[in-house]
Amino acid sequence: MALPEPFLEELRARTPLAELIRGRVRLVRSGRQWKGCCPFHDEKTPSFQVYHDHFHCYGCGAHGDAISYVMQTQGLGFMEAVAQLAAAAGLAVPQPNPEAAAADEARQDLFAVLEAAARAFSRRLFLPEGKAALAYLRGRGLSEQTIRDFGLGWSGEGRGALAAELGREGFSKLRLAAAGLAKEDGNLNYYEFFFNRIMFPIRDPRGRVISFGGRTLGEGQPKYLNGPETELFVKRRTLYGLDRARPAFRAHPSTGSPPIVVEGYMDVIALHQAGFPTAVAPLGTALTEEHLHELWRFADAPVICFDGDAAGARAAERTIELALPLLTHEHTLAFAELPDREDPDSLVRRAGPESFRAVIAAAEPLFRVLYRLLRGRTGEATPEQRAALRARLDAAARRILDRALAHEYRRTLRELSFLAPRRRPAAPQHRPEPGAIAADRPRQLVAILLRQPMLLPELEEELSRLDLPPPLARLRAAILQWWEGVPPLDSSGLIAHLNAAGLATETAKVLARVPLPVCPAGVDPAEARARWREVYHMLMTQPRLEEDVAVRRRDLAANMVPAIERQLAASKVALDAVRRGSDDDAS
Ligand code: UTP
Ligand code: MN
Repeated sequence: MALPEPFLEELRARTPLAELIRGRVRLVRSGRQWKGCCPFHDEKTPSFQVYHDHFHCYGCGAHGDAISYVMQTQGLGFMEAVAQLAAAAGLAVPQPNPEAAAADEARQDLFAVLEAAARAFSRRLFLPEGKAALAYLRGRGLSEQTIRDFGLGWSGEGRGALAAELGREGFSKLRLAAAGLAKEDGNLNYYEFFFNRIMFPIRDPRGRVISFGGRTLGEGQPKYLNGPETELFVKRRTLYGLDRARPAFRAHPSTGSPPIVVEGYMDVIALHQAGFPTAVAPLGTALTEEHLHELWRFADAPVICFDGDAAGARAAERTIELALPLLTHEHTLAFAELPDREDPDSLVRRAGPESFRAVIAAAEPLFRVLYRLLRGRTGEATPEQRAALRARLDAAARRILDRALAHEYRRTLRELSFLAPRRRPAAPQHRPEPGAIAADRPRQLVAILLRQPMLLPELEEELSRLDLPPPLARLRAAILQWWEGVPPLDSSGLIAHLNAAGLATETAKVLARVPLPVCPAGVDPAEARARWREVYHMLMTQPRLEEDVAVRRRDLAANMVPAIERQLAASKVALDAVRRGSDDDAS
């Protein structure tokens, strides 16, 4: 007798496979998996791998899930193995009854309807009626292979075509409605849900079609229509692309690409085509707790990479809110920031896979993003603001349910707030070594522009005039070359470009070794511009003042007159001020 599939899924989910197998095999951690000597053949070196939902022996090929493990090791039948596991998991085995069997059959039938629809849509894409849709997808850079891999299709032009076609295959309109392909108007009239749209099959993790998304060809609204929730399609659990991403997740970290969560269908598809097969997206909903748990099965720190716009930033903030209580030392997130106005699809298309790789490589751990968010709200210029910030940091840390981690968060967030500059950048609190700050000036100038590239148009001339040491000169050349490509002038895009141009080390050095006040991305451009001009001025003035001092010394040696003595004293004061990094008395 067949048991309902949802029950079996729940049973597998509630049975920690490593725990089960450990009763018989000594397992050691190996990355996110476990490894031991195979219980199904004789071996001395472990080639038996245990994943969260299945085991595999690279020696003898034994393979299966919790149920087949119990069947094979204890010689039990399927139902006996299920009964044993269900008892251990505290689940009741559903009694064989006609309703359960019928429900299961109905599910299988929904899959069949959706499979047939997907076939019809993808066939139409390559018929004359799908010409415009196919041209659109090609125009967006998708190869025929990608189009076929993702099963993209064309809905047909008007209502009725799909129902007629599937009707001939024996699928009633009622079944189309149950599968989320049509809706009923209350009078038993059925209307197809999708027409005049490019069709994106949405699949479950096992690759079975559970619904569709449909995109208008042009500018019509809504741009995307997603199928309604059905018995098969539960949005809060579904991630687009997961069926193709899962095998790639398993290869992590050897391939170096963690799960990447993006916003849209097209982002997932473009990324897979560009060599990022671990990209997935929620479906027109915010990320949910279920999504996070799914991703955490494969990686400690999936990367969230939402669009480079205000909506993307808000979505990232909501994701942090959602994740905080769930964080543990092996369940966290990283956040990758896209250049302004880009989504992953537009970035890989415009700037190539390497620039997206750099964006992912530069992803920041959750705690840093959280700190910036909390700090951004009021600033920290006054003791009151600093106390308010401290209270917000502590409150955020308290939302983490894992006690040990909450403690570490509180400490780390507080440390960050101690490190933050307390005064305006123009007023250094301590006297750096004369010369140390002067030597850092060229680097500061480059750093400010890395963070505030929107200043490039007005500072280009001065930038070009600077006499820079070779590594910085290389960076400058790359920055100016990037700018000529008329990109949006934003920092993460520039940094991604420099990383992709092989200047990652130089870039990191510039960003890391410069005293902080000039660097934070959040600094007001006007302030950054003022700081840049100030540093530039000091840098250019210092050699002139040095020369003044030398000349006046010589003059004075030749001719001891009070006027020259006074001039020398003034020049020395000015030079000293410029060397110290404050040019109050310089000009
Ligand atoms: P976007 O508008 O960012 O999608 O919406 P996109 O993938 O970048 O679109 P194009 O094709 O490149 O222009 C992100 C996601 O939000 C959902 C879809 O799941 C989409 O992929 N969405 C968007 C809707 O459900 N309905 C809409 O009208 C728009
Ligand atoms: Mn897009």
